[in-house]
Amino acid sequence: MSNYIIRRYQPGDEVGIAEAHRESIRRIVAKDYAPQQIDVWAGRIAPEKYVDSMQTKGETFWVLDDNGTIGGFAGWVPGCMYGFYMHPDYAGKGLARRLFEAAEKDMMEHTPSNTCDIDATITARPFYERMGFEVVEQAKHTFGNGTVIDIFKMRKTYQPEPEQTK
Ligand SMILES: CC(C)(COP(=O)(O)OP(=O)(O)OC[C@H]1O[C@@H](n2cnc3c(N)ncnc32)[C@H](O)[C@@H]1OP(=O)(O)O)[C@@H](O)C(=O)NCCC(=O)NCCS
Repeated sequence: MSNYIIRRYQPGDEVGIAEAHRESIRRIVAKDYAPQQIDVWAGRIAPEKYVDSMQTKGETFWVLDDNGTIGGFAGWVPGCMYGFYMHPDYAGKGLARRLFEAAEKDMMEHTPSNTCDIDATITARPFYERMGFEVVEQAKHTFGNGTVIDIFKMRKTYQPEPEQTK
């Protein structure tokens, strides 16, 4: 894993992104949600959906690329981190922080506001707190088939750069 790189999406990554996403839900998120919720959640994943989101919502993806294996991904639109999932084989090693910081920097360079919002899973809440986010409110997310999951709406506010003094 020493040769990994963190980079923007390249065509074809969507297959590995889907695999990391599915495994992350089935093997990491599963400890905090009911099996029926996990089945619905993981069952919705399909590579073409990331491509569609890039085209219709302008979502930008970043990936951890370990010699062609996608170890995790981040997806952002201005002011909002949409998706952030680590493949279980790459979790707990400090790599998520590096991937997040790269995607976050890119997002904030393209975001007019000084805030970043996230709909966080129960699982990811402590991670996002380490990244500087605070819980705004507890909420629910409803999947297309009506399945409801508990989430946290979280926000990070960035301090403006201090003005240069001569
Ligand atoms: C949340 C997730 C991305 C964290 O990935 P990770 O590989 O464990 O994170 P890292 O190893 O890079 O840890 C980064 C920091 O977060 C902290 N952290 C991560 N998970 C934590 C937890 N459950 N409790 C406390 N701290 C945690 C680490 O201690 C580390 O702190 P430090 O950098 O200050 O030392 C990963 O668990 C995951 O993919 N979860 C499932 C997907 C998910 O729920 N995504 C959110 C969708 S919104």
